[in-house]
Amino acid sequence: MSTAGVRRSGPGELIAASVTGSSSGLPERLFRARGPPGHRPPCPAWLHHLHHPSHAGRADRGRRQGRPGLAQGQETRMKIGIIGAGNIGSTLTRRLTALGHEVAVANSRGPQTLAGLAAETGARAVSASEAVPGADLVIVTIPEIRVPSLPPGLFQGMPDNLIVVDTGNYYPRQRDGRIREIEAGLPESRWVERQLGHPVIKAFNNIYAQHLAEKGLPADSPGRIALPVAGDDARAKRVVMGLVDELGFDPVDTGDLNESWRQQPGSPVYTADKDAEGVKQALADAVRQRAPEWQATPDSPGTFEAPA
Ligand SMILES: NC(=O)c1ccc[n+]([C@@H]2O[C@H](COP(=O)([O-])OP(=O)(O)OC[C@H]3O[C@@H](n4cnc5c(N)ncnc54)[C@H](OP(=O)(O)O)[C@@H]3O)[C@@H](O)[C@H]2O)c1
Repeated sequence: MSTAGVRRSGPGELIAASVTGSSSGLPERLFRARGPPGHRPPCPAWLHHLHHPSHAGRADRGRRQGRPGLAQGQETRMKIGIIGAGNIGSTLTRRLTALGHEVAVANSRGPQTLAGLAAETGARAVSASEAVPGADLVIVTIPEIRVPSLPPGLFQGMPDNLIVVDTGNYYPRQRDGRIREIEAGLPESRWVERQLGHPVIKAFNNIYAQHLAEKGLPADSPGRIALPVAGDDARAKRVVMGLVDELGFDPVDTGDLNESWRQQPGSPVYTADKDAEGVKQALADAVRQRAPEWQATPDSPGTFEAPA
């Protein structure tokens, strides 16, 4: 993944992900939003009323209730489980708690290692198994190769309408090694879905964590970044598209999960920060064949510094 466009901000804001809270060093050379203990990330003025629901006026609440996928008058505050607390998981924990959602966040090393993130955001630090029961929506945001290491039967017995979001990307040469089914052409999220035993919606996989943290804009802003969302269940997809909008991005429907290869690494929409028209065009222009740099070799995986 190119790091072009990724920049360092001032102290206490965005810092290199290095190893803090992450098992895999500098995944995709991205950046993690972080601040001193007790620090809440700065809230852009336009987001303030959404990030601080007690300050929201009636009109604002009405706007939130009009979110796609949610029935008129439906409570928009969701119970969200986030499995993975690295670049994307910690960013979504910050953004979604700030929007008023109830977040339970997990990593592989146990809730005690997430005390700082919990104190900062008000999220509950839990185990992966605890992040699922009772949730309206679960976001799985861990390296592809780690998906099979999740507790067996994690989604067994969960209601069919539990929405599961997969943010994952397959990095065979840098991190994940060869995953045979994906190399043979199975869309990455279809593979994840099979591992989890529960349908998934693919979203948030094509934007840098730092941009997810910082680049949201109000609806109708010129140049608002659009994010593709793929999945088979129309209702679940509408809810996720609503969340994308709430986070400050234009949701674009990629189609069902069989079409999700259109937003995988190497596709024209990947890390491109295009607007809605640009994303639609990029999805249409995508080519199914994996480019060689996105295929495993006999030596895979290497590292992000030295892909193999
Ligand atoms: N980085 C980005 O900007 C970006 C953007 C879009 C999509 N993505 C994709 O989204 C996924 C997550 O990326 P990331 O950069 O956020 O990863 P990351 O920074 O390496 O963090 C990975 C997280 O997954 C947790 N984890 C690993 N195995 C687990 C398990 N069995 N149970 C619970 N938690 C587990 C790790 O916990 P421990 O640290 O405790 O092991 C860590 O919190 C990847 O597939 C990536 O390709 C990343």
